[in-house]
Amino acid sequence: MSIIIQPEFYFNLKIRYNNFMTKQKNPQIAVIDFGSQYTHLITRRIRQLGVLAKIYLPDVKIEELKGVKGVILSGGPNSVYDKTAVKYDKKLFSLSVPVLGLCYGHQLLAHHFGGQVKPGKTKEYGFAQLQLLNKSRLTSGVPKSSRIWMSHGDSVAVLPAGFLAVGRTADCSVAAMADEKRKLYGLQFHPEVAHSVYGSKILNNFIFKICACQKDWSLDSYFLQIVKEVKKTVGQRKVFLLVSGGVDSSVCFALLEKILGKKRVLGLHVDSGSMRLDESSKVKTALAKAGFDNLQIIDASLTFLSAEKGVIEPEKKREIIGRTFLQVKDQVMADLKLKPADWVLGQGTIYPDTIETGGTKHADKIKTHHNRVKEILKLMRLGALVEPLAGLYKDEVRLIGQKLGLPKSLIDRHPFPGPGLFIRTLCSDGQEKITDQARINQQLKKVVGPDYQISVLPVKSVGVQGDNRTYRHPAIISGPLNFSKLHDLSVRLTNEIKAVNRIVYQVCPAKIDFKKLKTKPGYLSKDRLDLLRQVDDLVDKEMRRLGLYKKIWQFPVVLLPLTYLGGETIILRPVESEEAMTVNFYQMNKKILNDLAKKILKIKGIDLVLYDITNKPPGTIEWE
Ligand code: XMP
Repeated sequence: MSIIIQPEFYFNLKIRYNNFMTKQKNPQIAVIDFGSQYTHLITRRIRQLGVLAKIYLPDVKIEELKGVKGVILSGGPNSVYDKTAVKYDKKLFSLSVPVLGLCYGHQLLAHHFGGQVKPGKTKEYGFAQLQLLNKSRLTSGVPKSSRIWMSHGDSVAVLPAGFLAVGRTADCSVAAMADEKRKLYGLQFHPEVAHSVYGSKILNNFIFKICACQKDWSLDSYFLQIVKEVKKTVGQRKVFLLVSGGVDSSVCFALLEKILGKKRVLGLHVDSGSMRLDESSKVKTALAKAGFDNLQIIDASLTFLSAEKGVIEPEKKREIIGRTFLQVKDQVMADLKLKPADWVLGQGTIYPDTIETGGTKHADKIKTHHNRVKEILKLMRLGALVEPLAGLYKDEVRLIGQKLGLPKSLIDRHPFPGPGLFIRTLCSDGQEKITDQARINQQLKKVVGPDYQISVLPVKSVGVQGDNRTYRHPAIISGPLNFSKLHDLSVRLTNEIKAVNRIVYQVCPAKIDFKKLKTKPGYLSKDRLDLLRQVDDLVDKEMRRLGLYKKIWQFPVVLLPLTYLGGETIILRPVESEEAMTVNFYQMNKKILNDLAKKILKIKGIDLVLYDITNKPPGTIEWE
C-alpha cells in the first residue's frame, strides 16, 4: 500500500484548487481528506446540492472547523489498523456535529469508537447490491435493495458500542452503520459516485436532515470565481494554450477568450502522432468554424516517436509525452519570437487528471496524466500556469461549454486523452511471463464453472482498487455472450482473485487455443499507430452509423502486442459514465458486436478481437 507524498508546494497548490470555489465563505461541511480518489467528488456532490463544502487535512486544527454543521471523513488507500494509517486529530469527534465516514472514514469511525476492522475475506471493487437491515435517518427514502459502488479490501468486522448495522452486501456485513443518538454514520460504499444509485439521496439526507444545512451555493457564483481567479493569475500577461481539440481544451479556449479577450489567447495544437485518423485537420476546421482563429498547428510526430523509442513501461511513456509537449511548446514560442516572461501556459486540465496523478497529500498515484508531469508542476509553482477548469469534472465542463455557446459538435465529443493513441498502443519486449500461471488459472476456473473457458493473459494493465493503483494481468474468458452473467463473473473474478484486475471477453474468432496466445515485441512505431488508427476509425464510424455514439460515454480501442497467428490483438473498451471517476462497461448488442469484430478481423495484422467487461473500479478506462 504505497502512498505517494507529493512535494509540499504541489500539495499546497492542490488544496488551493480543491477549495478554489470555497475560499470566500466558511463552509458548512468539512471534508477530511484521507487520500481517496473521490474526496474532491464529495465536495462536488455537496455543492450540487447547493451547499458549500471544503477539504481539510486530517491534522487540521480543530479551531479551524468551528462553525461547521457536519464533518465527512473520506476514503483512502491505507488500513486503519496499520502503521501506514493516516494520523488525525482525535478532537475531530469533540466538535458535537454529525459525522459521516465513507469507506476508510467508515472504518476509522469503527476503529476509533472501539469496533474492529480487518482485511475482508472477499474484496469488493465496483458493483455491489446494498440490502438495508435497519431504519436510519441517513438512508430514509432508499429502497430495501439498491445498487452501490464499492472499492475496499478491509471491512468492519465488529461494530463499536452504540452503533447499529444499517445495511449489508453479499460480501460485507457492515456496509452501513449508524449511531443515531450521537449522529455518527458510516458507509463502506461511496455515495458520492454516480454509480451508487441512491448516493445523492443519502448525501441529501446527511446534509439537510441530519446536519440542517442551508443552501448557499450556485453555478453562477462558481463561474464568477473562475473569472476572478483567471484574471488574478494571468495579470497583464497573455496565455499560450495547448489545444488538443477535445472538450476540455475547446471549452478552456472559449472561456479564456471570454475572460481575457481574443488577442490575449494564442492556441497551439500539437500533432504528436498519437491523434486519431485525420484528427488534426478536423480539429482545425471545427475550431475555425467555432470562431477560434488564433490557433497554431504543428506536426511534431517525429519528435514524439523518437523520444518514445524503445520505451515499454506505461508510466515512463506518459512522463515522456508530458515533457515532450512542453519542449515542442518552447520551440514554437522561440520560433514565433515570443518572450516567455510575457506568457502564461494554459491547459484544459480537469480534476480527475490531478487526483489520478496522486495530486493530494495522501492519495496514491494511479497514472501520470500528461498535463501533470513534474515540469508542469514547476510552472504551477512559478505562477506561470493557468487552468480554469482544474476544479471541475467532465460533465461540469460540458455545462460551461453550453453556457459559453460552443457548438454541440464540440461539447458532445467523446473524451479523448491528451496522450491519445500512445497510451492505447501497449508495448512489450515480448518477454512478459506470468508467475504462477497454473495456480491462477485454477482459481479462475473455479469461479467461472463449466460453461466458460478462462485464462490469465501475459500482458498487464492499470487498475484502481481500494484507492490504490494496481498493475496486473487481465483474464480472457470465452463462452456464451450473456452480459448479465459475464458482468457478475467479472465482478467476482476481480474481487476474489488478486492476480487479475481486468476481464476481457473473446469475441472473434470464436474458438482459439488460449495456450497459443503469446506476447510479441511491439513498441511505439508509426506502423503500429497507423494500424490502431485504422481500427479506431472503423469503430468510430460504425458507432456513428448505428446511432450508438451518443449512448456510449467513451470508446477506447486498444492495440495489444498479444499474438495468435503472428498479428496483434484489439480490445474494445466502450464505457458508460458521468465524470470518469466510476464507469460500467457498455453492454453492446450481440449482433452489432459480432459484426463489428468480424470487420476488424478482416484488417491485416489483427488476429483477435476482445471486449473489455471490467467496470471502474477495478479497471481504469484506459489500459495504461
Ligand atoms: P482512466 O483511464 O484513468 O481515465 O480511467 C479517466 C479519463 O481520463 C482520460 N485520460 C487522460 N486525459 N491526459 C488526459 O487529458 C491523460 O494523461 C489521460 N489519461 C487518461 C481517459 O481517457 C478518461 O476519459
